[in-house]
Amino acid sequence: MNTAKTLLASLLIGGALGILAGCSGDVASEAATTPDNIESEQEKSPIRQDAEMNAFIDDLMEKMTLEEKVGQLNLLTSNWDRTGPTMKEDYKKDIRAGRVGAIFNAFTADYTRGLQKIAVEETRLGIPLLFGYDVIHGHRTIFPVSIGESASWDLGAIEQAARIAAIEASAEGVHWTFAPMVDIARDPRWGRISEGAGEDVFLATEIAKARIRGFQGDDLSDTDTVLACAKHYAAYGAAQAGRDYHTTDMSERELFSTYLPPFEAAVEEGVATFMTAFNDLNGVPASASNYLLNDLLKDQWGFDGFVVTDYTSINELVPHGYARDENHAAELAINAGVDMDMQGATFYEHMSGLVEEGRVAEDRVDDAVRRILEMKYRLGLFEDPYRYSNKARQQEFVYKDEHLRAATEMAKKSMVLLKNQNDTLPLRKNDLSIALIGPLADSKEDMIGSWSAAGDRYERPVTLLEGIREKVGDSVEINYAKGASYEFDSKGSASGFKEAIEKAQQSDVIVLAMGEKWNMTGEAASRTSLDMPGNQLALMKELKKLNKPMILVLMSGRPMTLTWEDRNLDAILEAWYPGTMAGVAVADVLFGDYNPSGKLTSTFPRTVGQVPIYYNMKNTGRPYEPEGAEQKYRSRYLSTPNEPLYPFGYGLSYTTFEYTNLTLGADTVTMGDTLTVSVDVTNTGDRSGEEVVQLYVRDVTGSVTRPVKELKGFRKISLEQGERKTVEFTLSEEDLSFYRADMSYGAEPGQFTVFVGSSSRDVLEAGFKLVSNK
Ligand code: BGC
Repeated sequence: MNTAKTLLASLLIGGALGILAGCSGDVASEAATTPDNIESEQEKSPIRQDAEMNAFIDDLMEKMTLEEKVGQLNLLTSNWDRTGPTMKEDYKKDIRAGRVGAIFNAFTADYTRGLQKIAVEETRLGIPLLFGYDVIHGHRTIFPVSIGESASWDLGAIEQAARIAAIEASAEGVHWTFAPMVDIARDPRWGRISEGAGEDVFLATEIAKARIRGFQGDDLSDTDTVLACAKHYAAYGAAQAGRDYHTTDMSERELFSTYLPPFEAAVEEGVATFMTAFNDLNGVPASASNYLLNDLLKDQWGFDGFVVTDYTSINELVPHGYARDENHAAELAINAGVDMDMQGATFYEHMSGLVEEGRVAEDRVDDAVRRILEMKYRLGLFEDPYRYSNKARQQEFVYKDEHLRAATEMAKKSMVLLKNQNDTLPLRKNDLSIALIGPLADSKEDMIGSWSAAGDRYERPVTLLEGIREKVGDSVEINYAKGASYEFDSKGSASGFKEAIEKAQQSDVIVLAMGEKWNMTGEAASRTSLDMPGNQLALMKELKKLNKPMILVLMSGRPMTLTWEDRNLDAILEAWYPGTMAGVAVADVLFGDYNPSGKLTSTFPRTVGQVPIYYNMKNTGRPYEPEGAEQKYRSRYLSTPNEPLYPFGYGLSYTTFEYTNLTLGADTVTMGDTLTVSVDVTNTGDRSGEEVVQLYVRDVTGSVTRPVKELKGFRKISLEQGERKTVEFTLSEEDLSFYRADMSYGAEPGQFTVFVGSSSRDVLEAGFKLVSNK
């Protein structure tokens, strides 16, 4: 890791990124920047050392015509209907002609078997197809949306969720998932923040690795594993103004410190594939970036899988203003290191001609083909092309009880209790009447959120109303009314309010099931406001007049601005989109059969005007000081505090935890040594509970300025009522390392602050000095 980072830094000093600025669309690719003395990691790759596989592929490739090779580079959707070759009528012809290497959006054992049969029996060489699909947070059994899963801070459970998704998808013929999305996102206006693991590099990197382990298992040749795909490479999450597909432009330090680490870790974890991003990064679209793909990913990091583009992103090099036409775009992309074209058909149309004209070397095509064939080989498809399309396995594993139970557990773990004044929650299970109100109270289609793969949206999901009724039967009266709408155009309308108010008048407490419609997050779902859409807030304000306890069960795929809600409601539970078992999980939490333990992985701002806002910002030269006398010339807003409403790492429990005795193993640490940090955590409330103990570090002075806090460790612990545990962390030099002024990677001697606590805001702190070992 360190070696790779040092090499990388030396490349940067050479100005690899700097040249991007001057690169026009007419330039085929950026200058190669790899120094001669860098040993290619590829040579050491275990995949490339597999002599039997190499011999098999050599032999196969010798028989392949150029057209057949190019065929392997095309990925087409099975239900394509917009801007490319129509698979509906012609797909069989394309497969039969050997012009398709992989297909996506095809699943079920029968359907994939049928397509595979054409490839195997009717093409000249019988090369099997690879079936890809967006299996993001479950395949049929849907788990919470990814941002929700991340709020569990439970790496084991996250890995297991990916494992189950792989078991179900592979049983339906899927070989390859377009997940995990490892983009760091710090702008909740961007709808795809829901698909990631939040704003923090350390946590998101651990989650990326857990998901890859879950999808790929120990051995890709096992029929219950799938190829994973680290996407979207790179910096897609930094789209300007939170508008999807928009430009990203950032310093190399920011790129390497924040956006690339999860991708580099994905390579180290053995991820099989990478997907390029739609965006332009510092002037070069990611799908044609020689620097990102050839130099960094393949040469520096030694990635030996294959690179697929995002959907038609090669074609999009033209509107980006980087390629003259699609022919030129195909040339730029393959020469930059793209191996497979998703849906754009630019390789399909132009690659053979480009090779014949000498604009693309046949060796480059051979390399791309080899990378793809290697994955097919590793999946065992050459031994048995139908081994994943297995109806018996499909019947056994899809929606298996055990999977549904795991989805319920994950949903409970993902929920974050944001407010719980006067212990309003949990609710009692008898002698109570509840008004259950809101557009998300009984809406099956919303429960599984966006990117829900093959998950059933209309029948199977358990709604809140169903989950609550199932739990409490007749012992609690439930008075349900939809009451309001989340549709944007319902703002101003009050239809439905009367019924909701009547139901609330008949009840002891009001449970609001409100938030965003499922497709308001995900791809192409950017917003300029983070308020409750529609007329939901207006209804809440009416209900408030009744002076009854009000609880909000919030469903959203992004941080929302909840200032009114925080001030006026008694309890708020962020439930995200909890998945197939939504209602069961929410009911367990509301009635105290599960004690919430989720913690936010994305900061909740007070107002959208604070965005971007994240916990590990810099201090500035004029930091705001709440107690200071003179505030005018400070880094602050005129009428809004700098602090968010709910910070990163925040989340309450039905019990309380006390942190004491933060102890460092030494006051002075020599470079290369480790430092032990320990803290006592006591459950001071009246029930057992789980707590995520978080460790942050600040490097007080550096050769470049450092963030005010950075997460460097966490532990999820369980404590009985009254129980105390000592939690220990070990900090190493690696934990204190960063890209220094000269872009070399390492730690610097000096003063550090250590913070340990229950969120990025609520911490104990202590200090130590790091000294040189020379
Ligand atoms: C998305 C990718 C996804 C692909 C295939 C694109 O629009 O950006 O994340 O994997 O479609 O469905």
